[in-house]
Amino acid sequence: MSERTFCMLKPDAVAGRHIGEIINRFERVGLTIERLEMGMVTLDQAKANYAEHKGKPFYDGLLTYITSGPVVKMIIAGSDAVKICRKLMGATNPLEAAPGTIRGDFGLVMDANVIHGSDSHESADREIAIFFT
Ligand code: RTP
Ligand code: MG
Repeated sequence: MSERTFCMLKPDAVAGRHIGEIINRFERVGLTIERLEMGMVTLDQAKANYAEHKGKPFYDGLLTYITSGPVVKMIIAGSDAVKICRKLMGATNPLEAAPGTIRGDFGLVMDANVIHGSDSHESADREIAIFFT
């Protein structure tokens, strides 16, 4: 079933000049980049996106990090887009992300793990509304 998901290349991916290589991975499996925008994440957007993590020890650092530099926001569409994107991204911690995944190939540490992707259809709808109003 065709669906949409939200993905964001985090500040370390942009600073590392990996935008092209990462977007290529989504296109080559057959997913469609439906919308794409580069820019800064506002503090309000960061808080809304990561509301589920409020109160956790890494929350403040996460907000500081995600607002620290330009990101690339995307709506990605295609069959099972949510699950396929998460699979291409790899495990949250680059230490555990398999080689061949985006975090496994471009990431080193949990705090700057290259990419964000919605973890469910509900998250995708919510996050698309936060970042593409
Ligand atoms: P994301 O939301 O960024 O796509 O990552 P995710 O679903 O794979 O992981 P999630 O549990 O939602 O965590 C969000 C981000 O918070 C940072 N984090 N740090 N130090 C820690 O224990 C810890 N846990 C999570 C990561 O940068 C993660 O991407
Ligand atoms: Mg998450």
